[in-house]
Amino acid sequence: MLTGGGDCPGLNAVIRAVARRSWSRGDEVVGVREGWRGMVEQLFQPLGPREVSGILPRGGTIIGTTRTNPYNVDGGVEGVKRSFAELDALVAIGGEDTLGVASRLYDELGAPVVGVPKTIDNDLSGTDYTFGFDTAVAICTEAIDRLHTTAESHNRVMVVEVMGRHAGWIAVHSGIAGGADVILIPERPVDLDEVTRELQRRHSSGKNFSIVVVSEGCELPGAEDQGEVDQFGHKLLAKRGVGDRLGAEIEDRTGFETRVTVLGHVQRGGSPTAYDRILATRFGLKAADLVAAGEFGRMASLRGSDIVSVSLREATAELKTVTDDWYDVARAFFG
Ligand code: F6P
Repeated sequence: MLTGGGDCPGLNAVIRAVARRSWSRGDEVVGVREGWRGMVEQLFQPLGPREVSGILPRGGTIIGTTRTNPYNVDGGVEGVKRSFAELDALVAIGGEDTLGVASRLYDELGAPVVGVPKTIDNDLSGTDYTFGFDTAVAICTEAIDRLHTTAESHNRVMVVEVMGRHAGWIAVHSGIAGGADVILIPERPVDLDEVTRELQRRHSSGKNFSIVVVSEGCELPGAEDQGEVDQFGHKLLAKRGVGDRLGAEIEDRTGFETRVTVLGHVQRGGSPTAYDRILATRFGLKAADLVAAGEFGRMASLRGSDIVSVSLREATAELKTVTDDWYDVARAFFG
């Protein structure tokens, strides 16, 4: 198995579950180190009970991860074929990019691959939730709670920048849970006049502080795009500072003292919640079962409370973005 893309709480729980179920069938389990890079370069690490012991609550991934895209590396696909010659099957644990590669390899080469949906952003189609999301939301909610008390003490506006490259799921869920007064997400154009009006309305009706949650993927009107991208063509958002620019705009327009907190990679680090440990474990068992049944080109998926499988192509065809219904729940508490 391999873990690709940004790390995510629960990866090790998947690794453990895949390994335990596969061993129980007498299979040998190998970790492919550093995502697709390990498939290109045959970076294999045997995984036995000693390596997998005690990893259920541990954050990160014991087999490493990168954002390598074999389709963008010289000789990448040839390297991946060499690796498949040594493996009977591959469990790819990743988000849209990692699983997009898995889907393409299955379609183009018939590669024996199954997927497990991972991302704190929760923006993968084909599953109700990805593991890692619940942990990220819990971390952001705790941060918003803490920011509330200091905001109130100082009569300040607190801007909280959370992750979410293309989708505002983390912002919406943590904003609802934390009682945010404005929530801005990449799916909706930011209207700074409206943000100003909401805050002024709130501050003229007896409240002297506000919490504004913004997804890192939001575009502010008039903002210049910054060029650096990864191997999948995604902008390196951590370097853009949308929260800082939003905070400055709010302070200029309203005159309210404003502070900005960028939660960054704290959202991805550390131990998974119980919910994510359980979801990751169920996904891992399902992935091992799909391998045993020879059902390749499929991804483990959560539907309601059931773990089922969907085609990788379906799961990676388009991103799952925040629906109007969800945003309306958040908006009911604005201002
Ligand atoms: O894709 C998951 C994610 O957490 C995004 O929300 C974020 O933009 C990105 O990873 C940042 O990752 P890195 O700093 O590792 O490139």
